[in-house]
Amino acid sequence: MKFCLRTYGCQMNVRDSEAVEALMIAAGHEKVASEDEAELVIVNSCTVRQKAEDKAVGKMGYLCSTGKMTGLMGCAVKRLGRDVFKVLPKLDFAVGPRAFGLIPKIVASNPHGVLELGDDLIPEGMGAHEVKGFQTFVTVLIGCDNRCSYCIVPDVRGHEYSRPEVEIEAEVRSLVDHGVKEVCLLGQSVLRYGAREGKADAFPHLLERLCAIEGLERIRFTSAHPKGCTDELIRVYRTYPQICRHLHLPVQSGSDRILKEMGRRYTRAEYLAAVAKLREFDPEFAITTDIIVGYPGETEADFELTRSLMEEAGFDNSFVFKYSPRPGTRSAMLPDDVAKEEKERRDQVLLADQEARGLRRNQALVGTVREVLAEGPSKRNPARYAGRDSGNRIVVWEGARPVGSKVQVRITEAHAQILIGEAI
Ligand code: 5AD
Ligand code: SF4
Repeated sequence: MKFCLRTYGCQMNVRDSEAVEALMIAAGHEKVASEDEAELVIVNSCTVRQKAEDKAVGKMGYLCSTGKMTGLMGCAVKRLGRDVFKVLPKLDFAVGPRAFGLIPKIVASNPHGVLELGDDLIPEGMGAHEVKGFQTFVTVLIGCDNRCSYCIVPDVRGHEYSRPEVEIEAEVRSLVDHGVKEVCLLGQSVLRYGAREGKADAFPHLLERLCAIEGLERIRFTSAHPKGCTDELIRVYRTYPQICRHLHLPVQSGSDRILKEMGRRYTRAEYLAAVAKLREFDPEFAITTDIIVGYPGETEADFELTRSLMEEAGFDNSFVFKYSPRPGTRSAMLPDDVAKEEKERRDQVLLADQEARGLRRNQALVGTVREVLAEGPSKRNPARYAGRDSGNRIVVWEGARPVGSKVQVRITEAHAQILIGEAI
């Protein structure tokens, strides 16, 4: 069949979609770019906030009216369960986030109303790839055993499962043989790799193992938790320059009271100590974060603590989310008592702060030389070329370079989200 896949949500979903595409191609189906041309359309859904779920389900609803075969995968399926067919009566099949490996078999059965939730299944086909460029995601840890009060992820993605080191290493070696130079290792809380099995520092050791692979130029990973920022992790950073100097370290709030309510298992001081450790190792180390504004009971004073923490941490970038109660989570039992307009205001304040801080941090890099892997023409200005430095900062310069090649760029101009320079 001619099929296409539309993806909503996080990197985990992007990776799962890639695996499904590779599995479908291996089963003899043909991937097409446009929905019009497709005989089968699959939507990979997110449910982390209600708005995210509505977008994916809305898209599927429209596609269900076109008479094509339709399938919904991902987190919203697990949350909705059987009710998914009440919301989308014409949907042909639905698979949860750990059951995507079953899609080729389901498609072959000419499905109507097929549901596979997957629960704590170890997904088949997690390692399937259709190598497209020099960068790719690799799943190392699925599920989440943290129980943050607001988060639906553990309910929908299930218990943690760390893939065996040998399996990950073999996958990365094969990717490198096919031209991959940069991998991003994925886990909901990736530094917890091996934790369920009681292994200490299993993640830094996995990194070391991957650093021995010839031709692998960069390793990234996401997302991190301050508890995982151990001395062993720093030692591995120090030893291997191919490990990128960037960490996405969601903090969520700067107020100890709110952090405790959220069940984040660190205080403001502990979080800032992790940041200090990384910046002591490398002052240019890039740190990005996620923030939730308008958590139940968040006062103006709590919010101001978040503002000041963001300034103290000197985040290079941040993603701000308005609190959205998710059914079944602990915080959904609390009144969602911060008004919509107030959430919006707090969001805007943090956005403006970040814009100024991002600019300031980038300005400090003017005159430095960034090592960049060329990704292709810049989206905003196709006359320019773009790539990323080790800190995941977007760098653009004049003049084409082969995609995937290393370019040294001297920075001449800084913006909040982008660095401009001359290739040398
Ligand atoms: N409401 C708002 N934001 C949320 N996030 C997770 N759950 C919720 C929720 N219920 C945010 C967190 C997380 C990011 C992926 O989404 O900031 O880090
Ligand atoms: Fe897991 Fe907590 Fe991240 Fe949610 S916020 S995905 S529970 S670590």
